[in-house]
Amino acid sequence: MAERFTVTTPIYYPNDRLHIGHAYTTVAADALARYHRLRDEEVFFVTGTDEHGQKIEERAQQAGKTPIAYVDEIVADIRDLWQLLQISYDDFIRTTEPRHEHVVQEIFRRLETTGDIYLSQYEGWYCTPCESFWVEGKLVDGKCPSCGGPVQRLNEESYFFRLSRYAEPLLAHIEANPGFIQPTSRRNEMISFIRQGLEDISVSRTSFTWGIPLPQDPRHIAYVWVDALTNYITACGYLQDESRFERLWPADVHLVGKEIVRFHAIIWPAILLALGLPLPRAVYGHGWLLLGEQKMSKSRGNVIDPRQLVQRYGRDAVRYYLLREVPFGADGNYTEDALILRTNVDLANDLGNLLSRTTAMIERFTDGVVPAPTGKSVLRPTAEEAVKKAVRNLDRLQVSDAVVAVFELVRRANKFIEEAAPWQLNRTGDPRLADVLYDLAESLRIVAVLLKPFLVDAPHAIYRQLGLDSADAARLADAAWGGLPAGTRIQRGDPIFPRIDVEDAAVSDPAQAPEGTPEVSVDDFARLDLRVGTILSASKVKGADRLLELTVDVGESEPRTLVAGLAEHYQPEELPGSQVVVVANLQPAKIRGVVSRGMILAGKTQSGMQIVSPRQALPPGTKIK
Ligand code: MSP
Repeated sequence: MAERFTVTTPIYYPNDRLHIGHAYTTVAADALARYHRLRDEEVFFVTGTDEHGQKIEERAQQAGKTPIAYVDEIVADIRDLWQLLQISYDDFIRTTEPRHEHVVQEIFRRLETTGDIYLSQYEGWYCTPCESFWVEGKLVDGKCPSCGGPVQRLNEESYFFRLSRYAEPLLAHIEANPGFIQPTSRRNEMISFIRQGLEDISVSRTSFTWGIPLPQDPRHIAYVWVDALTNYITACGYLQDESRFERLWPADVHLVGKEIVRFHAIIWPAILLALGLPLPRAVYGHGWLLLGEQKMSKSRGNVIDPRQLVQRYGRDAVRYYLLREVPFGADGNYTEDALILRTNVDLANDLGNLLSRTTAMIERFTDGVVPAPTGKSVLRPTAEEAVKKAVRNLDRLQVSDAVVAVFELVRRANKFIEEAAPWQLNRTGDPRLADVLYDLAESLRIVAVLLKPFLVDAPHAIYRQLGLDSADAARLADAAWGGLPAGTRIQRGDPIFPRIDVEDAAVSDPAQAPEGTPEVSVDDFARLDLRVGTILSASKVKGADRLLELTVDVGESEPRTLVAGLAEHYQPEELPGSQVVVVANLQPAKIRGVVSRGMILAGKTQSGMQIVSPRQALPPGTKIK
């Protein structure tokens, strides 16, 4: 039984602002960390920055700054980004910290004594963006085999790491531990790479100075990849706090992008073998987020800023999209349209509506109190299956599948509302109403617990609206059926995920409405909740020429807020007192920051718009058929 879980992200280069590709790995690692905390394990989640190397030295120079001043600024910005996305890391390691310099120097000292590091002459090719050395034979058309960019010829004295010594032990380890490199496709790539033979690698440089000097020969600085990879053991306390190190190392998983699996699955384990340290339990190489079929990357300049997305759509929407959209492991295309669609369909429509419908029905049918179930639960098996599937997938690092498993319960619950038709049970006084409402509320509570690894705000909001304290959802065991006490008084609130108004969002090229209007059935029409409303107040929406914010009495205990495109046709002061027809069951949408709950009908002619009113005054809430 694993009692602790250590998970890492790559340490990022602070040579530029991070983009959603970096957020992708970090949010996934955060989901794993949160999941294991939910399992009550001791979690150590470490991320950080890889601050040395020629590229950073050059960037700092261009910016007219010292390297450390340059990276300090970007690191502060990275920490802000992680704060924005609520990344729950336990340690943030910077390779410029003394604790790390000490470890790197000590490793070089030790490995020189064991003969794993030796001085020789380096001849080969160097790719600065990838910080990688290549021997002639590995180049593709004279270019870097990793990024396809130009390489520079190098010929200099260098220390070497005896990687060749570890090809056999590494192969044996990979073969004996099928889960060591994941997914299987990357494992196979690594096996064939090692089988082609491993050459010793250059691990020091003399042509620039921004790095950690070797203790035995300070003209040399440590090759940036050795400096970087060893961050993982520094963070766990290696050579500083032995008992902490024993507790936290080996890592359970190094989560990395697929382009750096080679460093993590070959060079890093070989260094660990040379140091006599245990190997990480798994290296997981996930796929890339692409923009227009190309890898999103700073050097290509085709990057998307996660900060803007969070500002526009909220952090849960961005986290959800990153975790759900692309099957974990595969490459996937980023589009803003897909993010909006996911938010509107999965979060606003499926999850948000389930919560608002359920709480509305409890309010209306059982005076706002969760009833005690009397009979058999219909949703319980689905809920139990969702827990099992989410757990199984998270244990296998299949993050996107775990999210899907939770939403299977959400979808089933929505369908159950249609099947069970609680409004009819209410009308006929059928005692099964209590079972249905309890089933729905309890399923939502379980969904909230299961969403805790992925989303940071919604689980709390769901708990609050169910009338519960979200501190009671701290453990996976809380996802067991029956945890919701009958008699709980629900607390209805705003929609947890207002629909994103597509006009408001910067979406290119919205789909054209089809020609003509399709026929609808009587049933289709009956799905509309059309009611008479009386406008109580009207005011202009700040910063929007067309929009008015209205409060409308639609026969409920509280008036509704609606946003309507009427500002060019009516002055706000002419409207109070007017009667209107309201589509009362339209999905709520956030328009210019205002949550609009419904739509009013108006006729449109060339000369303008006219709101539709009953010929004679009718009580607000009167149903229109
Ligand atoms: N500093 C090295 C890693 C050293 S780890 C000991 C490095 N840094 S990086 O800033 O370039 O970050 C690379 C990592 O960022 C990738 O491995 C991946 O985790 C993430 N991603 C960067 N761009 C990405 C995409 N377009 N898509 C998915 N992940 C991406 O390499």
